[in-house]
Parts: sequence; C-alpha cells; structure tokens
Amino acid sequence: MCGIVGVLGRGPVAGPIVDALKRLEYRGYDSAGVATLENGRLERRRAEGKLKNLEAKLAAEPLAGAIGIGHTRWATHGKPTVANAHPHASPRLAVVHNGIIENFKALREELAAKGYHFATETDSEIAAFAVEDELARGKTPEQAVHAALGRLRGAFALVYLFAGEDDLLIGARQGAPLAIGYGDGEMFLGSDALALAPFTDRISYLEEGDWAVVTREGADIRDRDGKRVKRRIQRSPPGSLLAEKGNYRHFMAKEIHEQPEVVGHTLAHYVDMAAMRLKPFAWPVDPTKLARVTIVACGTAYMAGLTAKYWIERFARLPVEIDVASEYRYREAPVDDGGLTIVVSQSGETADTLASLRYVKERGSKTVGVVNVPDSSVARLTDVLAPTLAGPEIGVASTKAFTCQLAALAALAIGLGKARGTIDEAAEATLVGELIATPGLLAEALKLEPAAEKLAQAVARARDVLYLGRGTSYPLALEGALKLKELSYIHAEGYAAGELKHGPIALIDEAMPVIVIAPRDAVFEKVVSNMQEVAARGGRIVLIGEKRAAEEAAVTIEHFLAMPDMSANFAPIVYAAPIQMLAYHTAVIMGKDADQPRNLAKSVTVE
Ligand code: AGP
Repeated sequence: MCGIVGVLGRGPVAGPIVDALKRLEYRGYDSAGVATLENGRLERRRAEGKLKNLEAKLAAEPLAGAIGIGHTRWATHGKPTVANAHPHASPRLAVVHNGIIENFKALREELAAKGYHFATETDSEIAAFAVEDELARGKTPEQAVHAALGRLRGAFALVYLFAGEDDLLIGARQGAPLAIGYGDGEMFLGSDALALAPFTDRISYLEEGDWAVVTREGADIRDRDGKRVKRRIQRSPPGSLLAEKGNYRHFMAKEIHEQPEVVGHTLAHYVDMAAMRLKPFAWPVDPTKLARVTIVACGTAYMAGLTAKYWIERFARLPVEIDVASEYRYREAPVDDGGLTIVVSQSGETADTLASLRYVKERGSKTVGVVNVPDSSVARLTDVLAPTLAGPEIGVASTKAFTCQLAALAALAIGLGKARGTIDEAAEATLVGELIATPGLLAEALKLEPAAEKLAQAVARARDVLYLGRGTSYPLALEGALKLKELSYIHAEGYAAGELKHGPIALIDEAMPVIVIAPRDAVFEKVVSNMQEVAARGGRIVLIGEKRAAEEAAVTIEHFLAMPDMSANFAPIVYAAPIQMLAYHTAVIMGKDADQPRNLAKSVTVE
C-alpha cells in the first residue's frame, strides 16, 4: 500500500512531511518523494529506496515551501524508479496517489490524442493530467478535480497541489482511505491517523466518494455529487495500536473496509497494469507437465482454495484435488513426485497446513505458498512464495486476507492456463481486466453496509441459518456460514444449492433465514429454481445478487442485498464483502467480541 501526506503549514513543510511518511513505512514502499510550492512554483524531490535517500536529496537541494505533498510508493504500474516515484506532475499541478485507477489506459489514450505527453507508464500521472485537462478548459482547481473524479474508475486516494495556490490542497477518497488533520492555523491530509499523529490528534475520515477542498482555515468536504457533507472530527486515541483502528470500532470492521486497497495492492504484485497482462510467475514445475494440482489449507483459507479449484479447472483445464490440512496430512494421500501443491495460509504458521506442506515436500511435490506473512514458516518452507499483501490482519476472523488469497489464486489460475496454452492472449487480457475491476467493485459492495446491518437485526434473532451457493459461490456459502458461526456463535451451515433437495430442504421453515449467494453466473437460473423450492415451503429468503436477480427470482424475498453488476468469473472476491459485513454486524448486535471471538486463536499453531 502506498502512503500519502499533505501539509498546509506555517513554516517549511518538507521535513515534517518526511517525518509523517516515516510513520507510514509499515505499509511497505520502494521509492518516495515530496512536492512543495517555492514562490508559487511546483518543485519536486524524489528518490528510490528508503526515506533516508529522499532526506539526502532534500539536504542537498532544500525546499522551503510552506505547502506540500509527500508519498511513499509501493510499485504497481512501472518499476520503482525516480521517474515513476510520486508526486507526479503536469504543468499546473502535482499529485500523490494510493490505489489503482483501472481505466487509466483509456484515459491515457484520450489525453494523448489531445496532445498531452507523459513521462511515465503510471496511472498516477494520468490522475494528474485528467485534472490538467479540466484546468485547460478554464475550470477552477475545485471544479477541475470534481470533473476529473467523475472520469476515474477504481479504488484510490489522491491529494492535489496546484502551482500558484499556496493555500489549497484537494484530496479525494474512492476505495482507499484518506484522513484530514486539523491543526492550529495548519491543516493536514494523510492515509491514516498514524501519519498525522506528529501534527495533530484531531482527525476526520473521508467516506467513500468524498473529496475535500482544504485551506489553512479548514476543510470543505463534498460528496461524489459535490454536495457539502459533514464528517465528524474526533480525537485519535493515544497509543499507536488504537490509532490504527482509525474511525472503526473493531479491527475487523477496518479490515473489511481496507479490502479495495489491499486487494488492489495484491493484484498489482501479479498483474502488469500497464500491459493488462500477468507478470511472469516462477512456477517451481513446468505447468505443461502437470496431471493435477493439489491444494491444502484450513478454515477460511480452505474456502479460498476451494474457490481456486473451480478457477484452475476452468482456466487451466487441470484437475484439482483439495482437502483440509488436518485430514490431508493423515490420510496417506498419494503425492505426485514432481507434482504441484499449493498451500494457502494467512499466518503461515497453522500447524496442520505446515505439516501437510512437509508431507508433500518429503514425497517430491513442488510447492507454492499463498501466504500473508512473508517471513512465516510456510513462506520460508515453500518452494515459491505467492504473497498476499493484505497487511497485518488483527481481527481473528479472516476478512481482507481471504479476498487477497482469492485475488492471488485467481491470478495463479489464469497464469496456469496461460502457461499450459489453455488461455490465449485475448482471454488473458479479458480475465485480467475483470480481475483488476474487483477492487473498485468491492468499494461499491461496501456501500451495502447499512443494508447488511439491517439484515443482521433479523439474523441475530435466528437459531439456525443456511447459506446456499453454486459453482464458485458454493465455497462462499461455506465461508459465510463459518463467519457467522465464529463471530455470533449462531449455528450456520453452507450448502451447495443443488444439494438442497437431497436432505437439507427438510430444514426449511419460517424460522430459519436462507441466505442465497447468486451472482449472474452460468448456474444462476439453477439457483433461482432452488430459491423457488425454498419459497414454496415457506422459507425465508435472503438474496445477495444483482438487481436483475431479484426481478428474475420471482419469489418473495425478505431481504435483498443489491450487488453491483459485474462479470461473474471473480464474483467471490466482491461477494465476500456482504457476507463479512453481515457476520460482523450480527456479532456486534449480539454483543459479541468481533475482534476476539471466544475459543478462537488468530493462528492455530497446535494440532
Ligand atoms: C478464519 O476466519 C478463521 N479464523 C480460521 O478459519 C483461519 O482461516 C484458519 O485457522 C486458517 O488460518 P491461516 O490462514 O492462518 O492458516
């Protein structure tokens, strides 16, 4: 994740900006930069590597401006070079950016056709020129940013600095966090409260779609339509760990909302966003020589692996054997010498998963580890690491790690298909395009939180809940049930929708909510008939699907979570959000500890 800082100060701001960037180093980065106004003129200092290199540059060529922006960059588009480091600039402005602008290629072509020239391949530079182009049409900086934001798609946060405007910064939040700090005659913007702690503890957080016109007098916050809105100013609690909760009550809530940003960050590890194709992946075996792939994991990581089974079989035409690690390690499973085993683990320390990894390695399998903790035991033992870049996941119930596992596994599945020739360049570009749209779709899905909270009021009163899904929604039904069980302690079960009539339909009554996960995929019509089977027996249907789904279901639906229209291939990444929010709010309504549910450990390091 990149780090963003903006300061409207009373004295030189370059030094304080670097200090603030140091508090964002935990987000990971490979270059950094600062831009200030020197007598109204834009000046930049940027450096590869760590902040000390930027400090050396500033020592050699100091900046004295009292307004500026700063950035630590984790390379997504283009290599970690000085040229690609932020802030990026156009003739009249500079910008710092965190996240992914997924339609930047189309915008780049449009702007190039107007005669603009670009110094880099990055999407961030396009965010600069999109505003430059609006200024060139005679708009004010505020009007220009508002107009440009309507053209940018994806999950991102931005802060703009304008030549000649030494009392103006404009920030925007669309899927990646941005906080505003209130000083005494000074104002600040930053990726989170931690960055702003050196300046102030009076913080407000932009909400999805907000943008803010900030002067030393204060912040004028608008919503997506330009309407003025109020965002609460709160004291960020002392103690960095608490501060990291931001304006969320629990880490789990914060981590659910971090998903657009960290899924985008994970995808950027596997996808060359500029070329819209996968980056090369160092498979430990030749994928064309494989007869099958084995996947082993526990809990939520297992649900991610089960989802990947569908993707690998569909895209790479490879059979996939999958099992929970606690079963796999003891059933004397035959192992293909020279075969491929993928282990999935957030912590990289789960005892059963680690034991299964050792089991397959001793029998000659090559291994890939989809792991969130890069120096963990699984990460060190596996032949090739396929990292998830979710950042530290503090909530015991896995949320952002799960969607990052799905993102990484989806990229690996496409990669296996490409390596085996079952996917051509055109199919790769289409699938990659659908995959990099998921962070923006997740940001849309998170807006369903009020509806999920309302649904939680009903679910909190249930004794049992049934989740149904088909195809890649079946593992999500299992995950939804697991989330509800582990957070609210309500008994819940996930089932393949097609299996309903083979027994579970006996459970259907007017007391048990039936939560149906129904993206518009190839089996959607089948799920509709399963819903009708439930309705015909007086069942209580909760539908999570697109607007059209409710219309076509033609049954009475007690609650409907209307998801954004999307291609269904990677729906699990986006549909994870409503099931996570439902479980979280049910737990909160029931007074349970959402961050530390009873009996659970974040990492099960014993059998
Ligand atoms: C997830 O919500 C659970 N807390 C649990 O199932 C977890 O996914 C499982 O223990 C596996 O952990 P790992 O991903 O760290 O290996």
